Parts: sequence; structure tokens; C-alpha cells
Amino acid sequence: MGKLLFFIPDQASSVASDVDLFFLFMVLVSGFFSLLIAGLIVYFAIRYRDSRPEETRRPADDIEDPATHGHGEAPIVLEVVWTAIPFAITMVMFTWGTSLFFTLSRPPAGAMQIYAVGKQWMWKFQHPEGVREINELHVPLGQNVKVTMGSEDVIHSLFVPAFRVKQDVVPGRFTQLWFKATRTGTFHLFCAEYCGTQHSGMIGWVTVMEPNEYEDWLAGGGAARGGQTLAQMGERLFNERACNTCHLPNGEGRGPSLVGLLGKTVKLESGASVVADETYVRESILKYIRESILNPAAKIVAGYAPQMPTFQGQLTEEQLLELIAYVHSLGQTAAAEGKKP
Ligand code: CUA
Repeated sequence: MGKLLFFIPDQASSVASDVDLFFLFMVLVSGFFSLLIAGLIVYFAIRYRDSRPEETRRPADDIEDPATHGHGEAPIVLEVVWTAIPFAITMVMFTWGTSLFFTLSRPPAGAMQIYAVGKQWMWKFQHPEGVREINELHVPLGQNVKVTMGSEDVIHSLFVPAFRVKQDVVPGRFTQLWFKATRTGTFHLFCAEYCGTQHSGMIGWVTVMEPNEYEDWLAGGGAARGGQTLAQMGERLFNERACNTCHLPNGEGRGPSLVGLLGKTVKLESGASVVADETYVRESILKYIRESILNPAAKIVAGYAPQMPTFQGQLTEEQLLELIAYVHSLGQTAAAEGKKP
């Protein structure tokens, strides 16, 4: 379908042709009915025009309009048909659109994780291996990539037309999108939410590489940064900000231990609990860690006093992501150890 419709962007992700097919369906249905209705209006206006001289016509309010007296002889079948057909068509739109929406909004398990931060006026991307990029994103071909995004200031929106993905980036929370690139090459990325003077300049490129080329690229970039992964940068920050003086690994500090937090059910002082399950509620644990850093009093782990200071305004979005990556890495270590006999 690609070259037949010359005006649509490149199709470079696994969902692109599905999105285009659905879009085409919507355009055809809407176009068909718009033309039909507009055409009939014009046709009826000409076909049933009153061509008699003006002085011989009856006044307009003298004419009996059958439509104002119920539907006269219009059969019930007609009523049913013109209700049922639009209903069926809109239900097709609804179910098709919804299933596509769910596909687009649920990253597949095991997707590669990229972190992104939008700020006036640039996109910052971080690979878990530690490589950072600005207004550029390198990804491997044929691999599911999940982008978890935060904003440093106002609402932005990450848009890659060739992948048919677009997601708002909202201050104070994480949002995400995912894609699987199906073609190597370089594709435009945009900010699609007006965010200030330089909004139109908040653009860049996604480069899709063969997996082995991507590995080489990562290795090169990693070396340039001293080889620190995102989790290691988070660990450094964890020590710099003295988080480690309270969150002792053995749980005997003033704050709860964060080791093995993922995959655990955390009992809160309020009696409620937060399930920190890696696969199923990954998003809720992201939110939970974020909230606990910025607003520590919101959810107090049972047995601990609410004495942690807030870090609101003291950490950039990127530093938050580093800390979260570090806590994640603690969880994974513990889970791996737990599986040993
Ligand atoms: Cu960021 Cu528009």
C-alpha cells in the first residue's frame, strides 16, 4: 500500500500498516458519506427547484410539510435500516480502533527500555547502558523498544510519523510509548505539542540500525562516557545524596531497604499495600518510586517513621530516572538471587 498512497509517510514500524489501513478505512467511510450527502443536497436543490414565476407561487408557510407530521407512510423498515447501518459502521470503527489503541498502548513484555526527557526545547534520550543522546535516538532493527518519558517543564509530545507513534510527555509523571522498527534508516522525530517559542525547533532523528551495528554504536558511546550504565549513575547519585545512609541494604536503617523491591509486596503504614511486581505492575512501581522520592510522606512503609525529606525540585527528571534505574537494578539482583536453590 506504501507507494500507492504517495502522501503518507514511510512505514517503518510493525504497527504502521495497521494504523494506515484503519486510517484509510475512516477516510473512505467519512468521504463516502460526506460526498453522498453533499451530492444529494445539490441534486435535490436542482431537481425539486420551483421554476414557476414568483408571483404564481404559494407562500412558504402555506405548504404542508409531511415531515412535521411524523413520518407519514415511511415504513418502520426504513427507520430500522437507517439506524442499524450507521450503528454497525460505527461499531466497526470502535472495535477496530480500540484494539489498535490497546496494541499501541501496551508495550510487549521484555521490550528494550529507553528513557526520554522532554524539556524546552530538546529531547534527551538515555539508554540503560548509559549512553545519552540529544535530539537523536539510535535503536536496533526488529526489536521492541519501550520509551518511558518524563518532562522537565511543560507538556511535550514525542511523535515519530514513520513509526505511527505519538505520546504526550507530561510534567510530574511518566508516560510511555513503544515501537518495533522494521526498516533501517533515519526518520524524523517531532515535538507535537506546542510548548513555547522554540517548539518548532524541538525536532530530531531516530536512526534504526542493524542489531550488530547498534551494539557497536552502544559500545563506542559507552566507552566515551566512562562506561557507566544508567543504574551505576543512579547508584553514584544515591550515595552523593546520602540516600544510602538511611536506606541500608539490611533494612536496619531509618528508611526501608530497597534491595529486592521489585517483585515484593510493600506493606504501608496506612494498612494498604503496593505490589512491586516487575512484569505486571511495572508502571505502578515506577510511580511509587517517583512519588516516594518527591513526596516521601505519601506512602510510608509499615514500621518506618515519616522522616525522609522531600527531593521535590532538587532532582532533574534525568536524575530521577537514574535513581529509578538503580532501584530497578537492586530488584533484579535480588530476584535473580532468590531463584537460586
Ligand atoms: Cu516540546 Cu513542543
